[in-house]
Amino acid sequence: MNLLDGKHVSAKIRENIKQESATFLASTGRRPHLVAILVGNDGASETYVASKMRNCELVGFESTNIHYDVDISEEALLAKIDELNADPTVDGLIVQLPLPKHINPERVTEAIDHRKDVDGFHPVNLGRMQRNLPCFIPATPYGIMLMLEYYGIDTAGMHAVVVGRSNIVGSPMSILLARNSNPGNCTVTLTHSRTKDIENEVRRADIVVAAIGKKHFITADMVKDGAIVIDVGINREVSDETKSGYRLYGDVDFEQVAPKASWITPVPGGVGLMTIVGLLKNTLEAAKHSIY
Ligand code: GUN
Repeated sequence: MNLLDGKHVSAKIRENIKQESATFLASTGRRPHLVAILVGNDGASETYVASKMRNCELVGFESTNIHYDVDISEEALLAKIDELNADPTVDGLIVQLPLPKHINPERVTEAIDHRKDVDGFHPVNLGRMQRNLPCFIPATPYGIMLMLEYYGIDTAGMHAVVVGRSNIVGSPMSILLARNSNPGNCTVTLTHSRTKDIENEVRRADIVVAAIGKKHFITADMVKDGAIVIDVGINREVSDETKSGYRLYGDVDFEQVAPKASWITPVPGGVGLMTIVGLLKNTLEAAKHSIY
Protein backbone atom coordinates (compact mmCIF):
# COMPACT_ATOMS: atom_id res chain seq x y z
CA MET A 1 0.00 0.00 0.00
CA ASN A 2 1.22 3.52 -0.87
CA LEU A 3 -0.15 6.62 0.77
CA LEU A 4 -1.53 9.47 -1.34
CA ASP A 5 -0.21 12.00 1.15
CA GLY A 6 -2.28 15.18 0.95
CA LYS A 7 -0.17 16.85 3.60
CA HIS A 8 3.03 16.42 1.60
CA VAL A 9 1.57 17.23 -1.84
CA SER A 10 -0.44 20.25 -0.67
CA ALA A 11 2.64 21.72 1.06
CA LYS A 12 4.70 21.33 -2.14
CA ILE A 13 2.05 22.94 -4.35
CA ARG A 14 1.37 25.71 -1.81
CA GLU A 15 5.09 26.56 -1.96
CA ASN A 16 4.82 27.05 -5.76
CA ILE A 17 1.68 29.15 -5.36
CA LYS A 18 3.43 31.30 -2.76
CA GLN A 19 6.26 32.02 -5.19
CA GLU A 20 3.84 32.86 -8.00
CA SER A 21 1.87 35.07 -5.64
CA ALA A 22 5.05 37.01 -4.79
CA THR A 23 5.80 37.43 -8.51
CA PHE A 24 2.24 38.68 -9.05
CA LEU A 25 2.65 41.21 -6.22
CA ALA A 26 5.97 42.42 -7.63
CA SER A 27 4.54 42.97 -11.11
CA THR A 28 1.10 44.38 -10.24
CA GLY A 29 1.54 45.95 -6.79
CA ARG A 30 -1.36 43.93 -5.37
CA ARG A 31 -2.10 40.45 -4.06
CA PRO A 32 -4.52 37.87 -5.48
CA HIS A 33 -7.77 38.41 -3.54
CA LEU A 34 -10.36 35.78 -2.58
CA VAL A 35 -13.73 36.75 -1.08
CA ALA A 36 -15.76 34.06 0.70
CA ILE A 37 -19.38 34.62 1.70
CA LEU A 38 -20.73 32.52 4.56
CA VAL A 39 -24.42 32.55 5.51
CA GLY A 40 -25.55 31.28 8.92
CA ASN A 41 -23.75 29.31 11.60
CA ASP A 42 -23.14 25.81 10.28
CA GLY A 43 -20.15 24.58 12.29
CA ALA A 44 -18.52 22.60 9.47
CA SER A 45 -18.93 25.49 6.98
CA GLU A 46 -17.38 27.93 9.47
CA THR A 47 -14.40 25.59 9.86
CA TYR A 48 -13.95 25.19 6.09
CA VAL A 49 -14.12 28.93 5.40
CA ALA A 50 -11.70 29.73 8.24
CA SER A 51 -9.29 27.18 6.76
CA LYS A 52 -9.61 28.72 3.28
CA MET A 53 -8.85 32.18 4.71
CA ARG A 54 -5.86 30.86 6.70
CA ASN A 55 -4.44 29.17 3.61
CA CYS A 56 -4.79 32.38 1.59
CA GLU A 57 -2.63 34.06 4.20
CA LEU A 58 -0.05 31.25 4.02
CA VAL A 59 0.52 31.86 0.29
CA GLY A 60 0.40 35.67 0.47
CA PHE A 61 -3.13 36.20 -0.90
CA GLU A 62 -5.54 38.78 0.43
CA SER A 63 -8.73 37.23 1.77
CA THR A 64 -12.06 38.60 2.94
CA ASN A 65 -14.72 36.66 4.78
CA ILE A 66 -18.21 38.17 4.63
CA HIS A 67 -20.42 36.52 7.26
CA TYR A 68 -24.21 37.04 7.11
CA ASP A 69 -26.90 36.00 9.57
CA VAL A 70 -28.98 33.01 8.54
CA ASP A 71 -31.99 35.24 7.77
CA ILE A 72 -30.35 37.43 5.08
CA SER A 73 -32.71 37.66 2.09
CA GLU A 74 -31.81 36.13 -1.27
CA GLU A 75 -32.20 39.59 -2.79
CA ALA A 76 -29.63 41.14 -0.43
CA LEU A 77 -27.18 38.29 -1.07
CA LEU A 78 -27.56 38.65 -4.85
CA ALA A 79 -27.04 42.42 -4.57
CA LYS A 80 -23.76 41.83 -2.70
CA ILE A 81 -22.64 39.34 -5.35
CA ASP A 82 -23.34 41.96 -8.07
CA GLU A 83 -21.25 44.48 -6.17
CA LEU A 84 -18.32 42.04 -5.78
CA ASN A 85 -18.58 41.00 -9.45
CA ALA A 86 -18.01 44.64 -10.39
CA ASP A 87 -15.17 45.21 -7.91
CA PRO A 88 -11.81 45.06 -9.75
CA THR A 89 -9.94 44.36 -6.47
CA VAL A 90 -11.78 41.01 -6.11
CA ASP A 91 -10.32 38.12 -8.15
CA GLY A 92 -12.18 35.11 -6.78
CA LEU A 93 -15.65 34.93 -5.21
CA ILE A 94 -17.18 31.93 -3.47
CA VAL A 95 -20.40 31.41 -1.53
CA GLN A 96 -20.04 28.56 0.93
CA LEU A 97 -22.67 25.81 0.54
CA PRO A 98 -25.07 24.65 1.82
CA LEU A 99 -27.26 27.77 1.99
CA PRO A 100 -30.39 28.17 4.16
CA LYS A 101 -33.58 26.79 2.58
CA HIS A 102 -35.05 30.20 1.61
CA ILE A 103 -32.08 30.89 -0.70
CA ASN A 104 -31.93 29.18 -4.09
CA PRO A 105 -28.35 27.87 -4.55
CA GLU A 106 -28.72 27.70 -8.35
CA ARG A 107 -29.65 31.38 -8.54
CA VAL A 108 -26.66 32.27 -6.35
CA THR A 109 -24.25 30.08 -8.34
CA GLU A 110 -25.34 31.63 -11.64
CA ALA A 111 -25.14 35.17 -10.23
CA ILE A 112 -21.39 34.88 -9.68
CA ASP A 113 -19.38 36.16 -12.65
CA HIS A 114 -17.97 32.97 -14.18
CA ARG A 115 -14.60 34.74 -14.50
CA LYS A 116 -14.49 35.00 -10.68
CA ASP A 117 -16.11 31.60 -10.01
CA VAL A 118 -13.07 29.94 -8.44
CA ASP A 119 -15.33 27.16 -7.08
CA GLY A 120 -15.98 26.16 -10.69
CA PHE A 121 -19.71 25.70 -10.03
CA HIS A 122 -21.08 28.12 -12.67
CA PRO A 123 -22.66 26.41 -15.72
CA VAL A 124 -20.16 28.15 -18.02
CA ASN A 125 -17.24 26.57 -16.14
CA LEU A 126 -18.96 23.19 -15.93
CA GLY A 127 -19.73 23.21 -19.66
CA ARG A 128 -16.21 24.22 -20.56
CA MET A 129 -14.78 21.52 -18.28
CA GLN A 130 -16.88 18.88 -20.01
CA ARG A 131 -15.50 20.07 -23.37
CA ASN A 132 -11.90 20.06 -22.10
CA LEU A 133 -11.58 23.85 -22.48
CA PRO A 134 -9.70 26.16 -20.08
CA CYS A 135 -11.95 26.81 -17.06
CA PHE A 136 -12.12 26.78 -13.29
CA ILE A 137 -12.40 23.17 -12.11
CA PRO A 138 -14.27 22.50 -8.83
CA ALA A 139 -11.70 22.48 -6.04
CA THR A 140 -12.10 18.94 -4.69
CA PRO A 141 -11.98 17.10 -8.04
CA TYR A 142 -9.17 19.46 -9.11
CA GLY A 143 -7.21 18.61 -5.94
CA ILE A 144 -7.69 14.87 -6.55
CA MET A 145 -6.42 15.19 -10.14
CA LEU A 146 -3.39 17.18 -8.90
CA MET A 147 -2.61 14.44 -6.40
CA LEU A 148 -2.81 11.66 -9.02
CA GLU A 149 -0.62 13.79 -11.30
CA TYR A 150 1.93 14.43 -8.52
CA TYR A 151 2.41 10.70 -7.92
CA GLY A 152 2.63 10.03 -11.68
CA ILE A 153 -0.30 7.63 -11.65
CA ASP A 154 -1.32 6.75 -15.20
CA THR A 155 -5.08 6.16 -15.11
CA ALA A 156 -5.60 5.58 -18.85
CA GLY A 157 -7.85 2.59 -19.52
CA MET A 158 -8.77 2.11 -15.86
CA HIS A 159 -12.31 1.53 -14.69
CA ALA A 160 -13.20 4.30 -12.24
CA VAL A 161 -16.21 4.03 -9.96
CA VAL A 162 -17.39 7.29 -8.39
CA VAL A 163 -19.73 6.88 -5.43
CA GLY A 164 -22.01 9.93 -5.07
CA ARG A 165 -23.30 12.31 -7.77
CA SER A 166 -23.11 15.70 -6.01
CA ASN A 167 -22.60 18.87 -8.05
CA ILE A 168 -19.54 19.66 -5.95
CA VAL A 169 -17.64 16.36 -6.15
CA GLY A 170 -19.14 13.24 -7.74
CA SER A 171 -20.50 14.66 -11.00
CA PRO A 172 -17.46 16.81 -11.92
CA MET A 173 -15.11 13.99 -10.82
CA SER A 174 -16.80 11.60 -13.25
CA ILE A 175 -16.34 14.10 -16.09
CA LEU A 176 -12.65 14.70 -15.30
CA LEU A 177 -11.80 11.01 -15.05
CA ALA A 178 -13.49 10.32 -18.39
CA ARG A 179 -11.86 13.23 -20.24
CA ASN A 180 -9.16 12.72 -22.83
CA SER A 181 -6.38 13.95 -20.52
CA ASN A 182 -3.82 12.62 -18.09
CA PRO A 183 -4.86 11.76 -15.45
CA GLY A 184 -8.12 10.77 -17.10
CA ASN A 185 -9.01 8.45 -19.97
CA CYS A 186 -10.91 6.19 -17.56
CA THR A 187 -14.08 4.25 -18.19
CA VAL A 188 -16.34 5.76 -15.56
CA THR A 189 -19.29 4.43 -13.60
CA LEU A 190 -21.13 7.09 -11.56
CA THR A 191 -23.11 5.47 -8.76
CA HIS A 192 -25.70 7.08 -6.46
CA SER A 193 -28.57 6.41 -4.07
CA ARG A 194 -30.67 4.74 -6.79
CA THR A 195 -27.90 2.44 -8.08
CA LYS A 196 -29.10 -1.17 -7.77
CA ASP A 197 -25.98 -2.81 -6.34
CA ILE A 198 -23.33 -0.26 -5.36
CA GLU A 199 -21.19 -2.91 -3.61
CA ASN A 200 -20.88 -4.90 -6.80
CA GLU A 201 -20.07 -1.82 -8.91
CA VAL A 202 -17.30 -0.80 -6.48
CA ARG A 203 -15.86 -4.32 -6.54
CA ARG A 204 -15.13 -3.89 -10.28
CA ALA A 205 -13.21 -0.63 -9.79
CA ASP A 206 -9.54 0.02 -10.50
CA ILE A 207 -10.13 3.46 -8.95
CA VAL A 208 -12.79 4.19 -6.33
CA VAL A 209 -13.75 7.75 -5.45
CA ALA A 210 -15.93 7.73 -2.34
CA ALA A 211 -17.96 10.94 -1.98
CA ILE A 212 -21.18 10.04 -0.21
CA GLY A 213 -20.74 11.43 3.30
CA LYS A 214 -21.28 8.15 5.18
CA LYS A 215 -18.67 7.06 7.71
CA HIS A 216 -16.81 3.89 6.63
CA PHE A 217 -19.30 3.10 3.84
CA ILE A 218 -16.56 1.45 1.77
CA THR A 219 -15.40 -1.75 3.45
CA ALA A 220 -12.60 -4.17 2.53
CA ASP A 221 -14.91 -6.74 0.91
CA MET A 222 -16.00 -4.07 -1.61
CA VAL A 223 -12.47 -3.26 -2.83
CA LYS A 224 -10.54 -5.16 -5.50
CA ASP A 225 -6.92 -6.10 -4.72
CA GLY A 226 -4.61 -3.35 -5.98
CA ALA A 227 -7.31 -0.70 -6.39
CA ILE A 228 -6.63 3.03 -6.00
CA VAL A 229 -8.88 4.40 -3.24
CA ILE A 230 -9.73 8.10 -2.96
CA ASP A 231 -11.69 9.10 0.13
CA VAL A 232 -13.55 12.43 -0.05
CA GLY A 233 -15.54 11.88 3.17
CA ILE A 234 -15.22 14.35 6.04
CA ASN A 235 -17.67 12.93 8.57
CA ARG A 236 -17.46 14.78 11.88
CA GLU A 237 -18.25 13.10 15.18
CA VAL A 238 -18.09 14.74 18.58
CA SER A 239 -15.05 13.46 20.47
CA ASP A 240 -13.19 14.61 23.55
CA GLU A 241 -10.00 12.92 22.29
CA THR A 242 -9.11 15.85 19.99
CA LYS A 243 -8.38 19.53 20.56
CA SER A 244 -11.19 20.65 18.22
CA GLY A 245 -13.77 18.52 20.01
CA TYR A 246 -14.43 16.56 16.79
CA ARG A 247 -12.97 13.51 15.14
CA LEU A 248 -13.05 13.10 11.37
CA TYR A 249 -13.94 9.84 9.65
CA GLY A 250 -13.68 9.07 5.96
CA ASP A 251 -16.23 7.33 3.73
CA VAL A 252 -13.67 4.51 3.59
CA ASP A 253 -12.78 2.16 6.45
CA PHE A 254 -9.06 2.98 6.08
CA GLU A 255 -7.69 0.35 8.51
CA GLN A 256 -9.50 -2.47 6.74
CA VAL A 257 -9.16 -1.26 3.14
CA ALA A 258 -5.54 0.02 3.12
CA PRO A 259 -3.87 -3.43 3.01
CA LYS A 260 -5.76 -4.23 -0.22
CA ALA A 261 -5.17 -0.90 -1.97
CA SER A 262 -2.25 0.03 -4.24
CA TRP A 263 -2.75 3.71 -3.32
CA ILE A 264 -5.05 5.25 -0.73
CA THR A 265 -5.79 8.69 0.78
CA PRO A 266 -6.03 9.05 4.57
CA VAL A 267 -8.66 11.12 6.43
CA PRO A 268 -7.62 13.59 7.65
CA GLY A 269 -4.48 14.42 5.65
CA GLY A 270 -5.74 13.46 2.20
CA VAL A 271 -8.29 15.03 -0.14
CA GLY A 272 -9.37 17.82 2.26
CA LEU A 273 -5.98 19.52 2.07
CA MET A 274 -5.91 19.12 -1.72
CA THR A 275 -9.30 20.85 -2.02
CA ILE A 276 -7.81 24.02 -0.55
CA VAL A 277 -4.88 23.83 -2.96
CA GLY A 278 -7.36 23.55 -5.87
CA LEU A 279 -9.11 26.69 -4.67
CA LEU A 280 -5.82 28.58 -4.25
CA LYS A 281 -4.69 27.60 -7.76
CA ASN A 282 -7.99 28.77 -9.23
CA THR A 283 -7.73 32.08 -7.35
CA LEU A 284 -4.22 32.68 -8.70
CA GLU A 285 -5.41 31.90 -12.26
CA ALA A 286 -8.31 34.33 -11.79
CA ALA A 287 -5.95 37.10 -10.63
CA LYS A 288 -3.59 36.46 -13.56
CA HIS A 289 -6.50 36.30 -16.03
CA SER A 290 -4.86 33.27 -17.54
CA ILE A 291 -8.22 31.57 -18.24
CA TYR A 292 -10.60 34.50 -18.89
N1 GUN B 1 -19.40 23.18 0.54
C1 GUN B 1 -18.73 22.02 0.55
N2 GUN B 1 -17.68 22.08 -0.30
C2 GUN B 1 -17.70 23.31 -0.85
C3 GUN B 1 -16.87 23.96 -1.80
O1 GUN B 1 -15.90 23.42 -2.34
N3 GUN B 1 -17.21 25.24 -2.11
C4 GUN B 1 -18.29 25.87 -1.54
N4 GUN B 1 -18.56 27.11 -1.92
N5 GUN B 1 -19.08 25.28 -0.67
C5 GUN B 1 -18.78 24.01 -0.33
